Amino acid sequence: MTEHLTVVDHPLVQHKLTLMREKDTSTNSFRRLLREISHLLAYEITRELPMTTKHIETPLEPMDAPAIEGKKMALVSILRAGNGLLDGVLDLIPAARVGFVGLYRDEETLQPVQYYCKLPSGLEDRLVIAVDPMLATGNSSAAAIDLIKQAGATNIRFLCLLAAPEGVQRMKEAHPDVPIVTAAVDNYLDDRGYIVPGLGDAGDRMFGTK
Ligand code: URA
Repeated sequence: MTEHLTVVDHPLVQHKLTLMREKDTSTNSFRRLLREISHLLAYEITRELPMTTKHIETPLEPMDAPAIEGKKMALVSILRAGNGLLDGVLDLIPAARVGFVGLYRDEETLQPVQYYCKLPSGLEDRLVIAVDPMLATGNSSAAAIDLIKQAGATNIRFLCLLAAPEGVQRMKEAHPDVPIVTAAVDNYLDDRGYIVPGLGDAGDRMFGTK
């Protein structure tokens, strides 16, 4: 991907995102919508994967059919909300290796604190898609990408549902080589670090916690 930021403005994505934003949308619907949107976002983030051809035989005749080259991919979920996007992306890329980075945001400093990191081996040979629905300050995302790079990855993309301009800027400064795909860039971050208008706390809405 050449663009640093891609906003997927497809009507289905935008419609589903609107439903997710609504405060009365149930946990059940929120989860289902997130899974559906993650299919559409995964479609976009994998659009330019290198292709090759594979010799196959159809019931009628042999052909050289298109196939993804390499197929070595890894998904890294930034816990815990990342798991909501992860499930949908795995529906489309079931052979991907999966890693997890656990970071929580210190509510006072808004800085990320790491509590878990388990990444697949061989990341240097893989396209890594890091997933986290909310790119807010960008601090957690940038820290997660630091860890993924320390593990050897050089080809990384970042997939989120919603971004704040501040988070996009932070990622651009920290990791200009990591393209971002999102459904929308909202207006600003409030003083608690929430994206406005946003959709609230994605983890709470997805898991029904508060
Ligand atoms: N994380 C969320 O879940 N929501 C926000 O608005 C910002 C960060």
